[in-house]
Amino acid sequence: MSLLSETTLPPAPRAVPDPAPAAKPAVPDHLQLVVVGHVDHGKSTLIGRLLFDTHSVPDGKAERIEAACKAEGMEFEYAFLLDALLEEQAQNITMDTTRVPFRTERRSFTIIDAPGHKEFLKNMITGAASADAAILLVDAHEGLREQSRRHCFLLSLLGLTQIVVAVNKMDLVGYKPEVFEAIRTELGGFLAKLGVEPAHFVPISAKHGEGLLRHSEKMPWYRGPTLVEALERFRGNPPASGGPLRLSVQDVYRFDARRIIAGLIESGSVSVGDEIEFVPGGKRSRVKAIETWPQTTPPPRGPVGSGSEVALTLEDELFVERGQIGAPTSDKPHSARTFTARVFWIHDTPLRSGELIPLKLGTQQAEARVLGIQRTLDAVTLETGTGTNGEVKVHEVAEIRLRVRKPIAFEVGGKVPALGRFVLMRGRRIGGGGVIDSVVEEPPESRGVSPVSRSAILGHRGCIIWMTGLSGSGKSTLAQALEQRLLNSGILSTVLDGDVLRTGLSRNLGFTPDDRSENLRRATELAIHLADAGVVVVAALISPFRADRAMAAERAKERGVPFAEIFVNAPLAECERRDPKQLYKRARAGQIPQFTGIDSPYEAPLAPDLELRTDRLSVGDSIEKLAEMALALARPSEQDGSGAHI
Ligand code: ADX
Repeated sequence: MSLLSETTLPPAPRAVPDPAPAAKPAVPDHLQLVVVGHVDHGKSTLIGRLLFDTHSVPDGKAERIEAACKAEGMEFEYAFLLDALLEEQAQNITMDTTRVPFRTERRSFTIIDAPGHKEFLKNMITGAASADAAILLVDAHEGLREQSRRHCFLLSLLGLTQIVVAVNKMDLVGYKPEVFEAIRTELGGFLAKLGVEPAHFVPISAKHGEGLLRHSEKMPWYRGPTLVEALERFRGNPPASGGPLRLSVQDVYRFDARRIIAGLIESGSVSVGDEIEFVPGGKRSRVKAIETWPQTTPPPRGPVGSGSEVALTLEDELFVERGQIGAPTSDKPHSARTFTARVFWIHDTPLRSGELIPLKLGTQQAEARVLGIQRTLDAVTLETGTGTNGEVKVHEVAEIRLRVRKPIAFEVGGKVPALGRFVLMRGRRIGGGGVIDSVVEEPPESRGVSPVSRSAILGHRGCIIWMTGLSGSGKSTLAQALEQRLLNSGILSTVLDGDVLRTGLSRNLGFTPDDRSENLRRATELAIHLADAGVVVVAALISPFRADRAMAAERAKERGVPFAEIFVNAPLAECERRDPKQLYKRARAGQIPQFTGIDSPYEAPLAPDLELRTDRLSVGDSIEKLAEMALALARPSEQDGSGAHI
């Protein structure tokens, strides 16, 4: 084993200025970088080598480590350099992410790193790693792994668009262009599906320093930039440093009679005399004085820019709270309760539609209701989930709707990334993270008459009893009997029957999956409208697809209408035997295409609120069960709180 020779520790490629200080970057040409990749794909070696080759490690450090390695009979590795640096950092401060500075001739960099894969996902999600650019590291020998795919997904989810792919360990594959090209094709294709286009694919060998700072003689076939050149070409400074002020309030202190507002400037800048509004809430005042840490004399009058922590006193004594965002009155962040978002779920217990879950966005916290799960996607295969089943499983990404109990301030579309990202908590752990996509307009609060005043007249409230099942399973019969039973109990009720709907409102629709979906959407909207007016709506619709039923349930929940799914279940053979409309016969004869149960599927409910085996129960027994359920929804007791929804 050769140690401590010139060959193990080669001279670093070119002279560069002193490394940048570890402080918060203020230089315009600074780039915050994450290195993303499978644990074994050489991340530490790459970082160690970059530090060494750019002279970003203190003099003599590498030699000392090498000597220590020799003493232990180990081979020197560049990864040890990084380890040593991180160890020093860890002794100084407790941080969930580490920041490693290095500098080339053209610009300075900070590598934001998080140890281990789990932590990486967590840190990316919490936005601790608020990077400007990413190196996506892939092992040429191993190719693309599951973990790399998830990382790609997260990069795209978080809107990181400046990406360079480093295909590492080219030495292990004989520096062959075919291997590099194959990875470029596969990974490029995967990233394209995510809408991510890397700036460059660069073949490297971090261990041997090939392709990092200088063009590698081992790979004359590669004509693109070196890894460092590619990094130097990226746009520095997050766009957030321009734009309007976003001051995220962290604490409010009282000194004598003064109230001091401490916060972080997420974007824009603040000066003495500026008018600031605090969102949500809308209280306004002008800045009287600014203090910074560490203190300066005289205190600055501004502008104090993004990334700084400031303490302000205002001209007026406002009641400002942690979690509010200070902004110019002319350009404020959104303040709303309902929004759509994309989430990446990392907890083993799935996120469920309808659940109430703590949400944290910057310094703001609120309970959020999952109103609906529109679409799920497996982060590894990019396959869309079959229907939504109302849950998001571990390592899935989903489009969801959330409503928080109280308005929160946020940004959409990456305007100020830190204010568009949130985390959802599962107990004390992070369940998942997300990015807000859009604000959902709520129906106007005051529409003359409220559902509450209607139910005061009626003595009950509206709801939807949704019966699903095969043709001939007994839906229409039960629906009509239930309607009568409810009317007998003084409850206003109406039946929405598929056969009837299809002669009017849905006259123009057929039985393709899309047409059925549209039919059920119409039925849902009509049912919600009626229920909102206080009517108990009994829907009798085949509604064969889970996703359509989930949409109906979610839409009702969104509008605050109680909804129950009833599976009217009779085996196909029994329905076919009954065949009241002779439709099965005709379908079997090929006269009715796409007939449910024959040549179009019926997806049975997985967890219906009630299942009625109509081949075993009498109509009377079924009606009693149905009536009990409908009455509980229409006349909830005062205490059970089921009338309350957020
Ligand atoms: S759904 O699938 O869109 O929910 P819906 O309940 O409105 O169906 O209508 C079902 C009724 O349409 C059946 O009771 C039957 O009388 C009639 N029908 C005609 N063609 C079909 C078909 N291909 N599949 C199922 N029902 C059909």
